Amino acid sequence: MIDLRSDTVTRPTKGMLDAMAAAPTGDDVYDEDPSVRALEERTAELLGHEAGLFTVSGSLANMLGVRAWVAPGRELLCEAQAHVVRAELGGHSAWHGVTTRTWTHDRGGVDLEAVRRLMTPDAGPYLVSTAAIAVENTHNFAGGTVHPLGELAALRELVGGTGVRLHLDGARLWNAQVASGTPAGEYARLFDTVSVCLSKGLGAPVGSVLVGPADVIAEARVWRKRMGAGWRQAGVLAAAGSYALDHHVERMRDDHANARLIAATVADAAPSVVDPARVETNIVLLDVGESAHRLVEEARAEGVLTGIVGPGLVRVITHLDVGADDARRAAEVLARLAES
Ligand SMILES: Cc1ncc(COP(=O)(O)O)c(C=O)c1O
Repeated sequence: MIDLRSDTVTRPTKGMLDAMAAAPTGDDVYDEDPSVRALEERTAELLGHEAGLFTVSGSLANMLGVRAWVAPGRELLCEAQAHVVRAELGGHSAWHGVTTRTWTHDRGGVDLEAVRRLMTPDAGPYLVSTAAIAVENTHNFAGGTVHPLGELAALRELVGGTGVRLHLDGARLWNAQVASGTPAGEYARLFDTVSVCLSKGLGAPVGSVLVGPADVIAEARVWRKRMGAGWRQAGVLAAAGSYALDHHVERMRDDHANARLIAATVADAAPSVVDPARVETNIVLLDVGESAHRLVEEARAEGVLTGIVGPGLVRVITHLDVGADDARRAAEVLARLAES
C-alpha cells in the first residue's frame, strides 16, 4: 500500500529509533526529563519565543495556546476550514468555553477586510468580545498553502494595540519554511503563541511543541496536567522529535517535489481536477466531484490510499515513507482514475 491519506502515518526510521533508545529520561511531570527540556528549549529558540511545552498532539498544543488567550464565553476568529475549528472535535469549546466566528478564504489565508469587520475586542455586555485570532500555516484543508509573510505582518499590524492575541497553528510550519525559504522563526515572531508538530512531515511518532511567553507556557503546563496529559519519561518521544529536527526538515523538499509530480500527472490526464500551480507543499487536493468515493475505493483496490476532506475533494499527502517511485506509481493510478 502507498499510504497518501496523511503525513501522520510515517514509521520511525532506524536512526530515529536509535536516538529514542539512547535518550536520557526523567519524570517530566517533575520537569526533570532532560530530553524533553532540550526539545522544548531548542524549539522555543528556533521560533524566537521564551519557552516551550512538549505535548502529545497538535490539537492539545492548539487548545493550550488558544486557552491562554480566550476566556470562556469570549471568541476566537479563524478561517472557516481551519483545523482548530473543523478538526479538533470542538475541543476548544468542550474544554475551555471558547466560541468561534470564521471568515472564508480560497487559500485558507487571512482576509484582512473580513478580520477588520469581525474583530470586536470590546463588544460590551450584549455581544461576544474577540480575544484571539488563529492562523494556520501551511493550511491543511486549503491544500498545504503557505501564507505570505507580508499578509501575516499586516494581520499583526491590524490587531496592533487592541489586546487581541494571535495564535499560529504551525502543524506544518516546517513545510512552509522549506517551500518559501522564510525561516519558521520569521513567521513565529509575529504570533503570541505558536504550535508546531513533529509527527507530520518531520516523521516523529508523536508530539508537538507549544511556544510562547514563559508565564503562558508555565500556565499551559498546569493545564496540560489538568487535562490528563502530563507524562513521565517522555524523553523517549522528545528524542524522536529532536532527531527529526536534525534530519528531516530539509528532506521535505522531496515530499513537495513528489506532490508536484502527482498533481502534474493527474492534471495531464484530467486538467479540471487539479491545478499543479496551486501545489505549494506536500498536499494535493483533487476536485473530482461526485466521483470522490469511487476514486478513493478504486485507488485503494490498486494499492493507493487517499482520503476525502470535503465535498468532492480527495486529499493526497506525501511524506517520509513515500519515495519517488511510490509517487510515480500513485500518480499513474490517480491520473487514470481521475480521467475515467
Ligand atoms: C493544521 C493542523 N493542525 C493541527 C493538527 C492536529 O494535530 P494532531 O493530529 O497531532 O492532534 C493537524 C493534524 O493533522 C493539522 O493538520
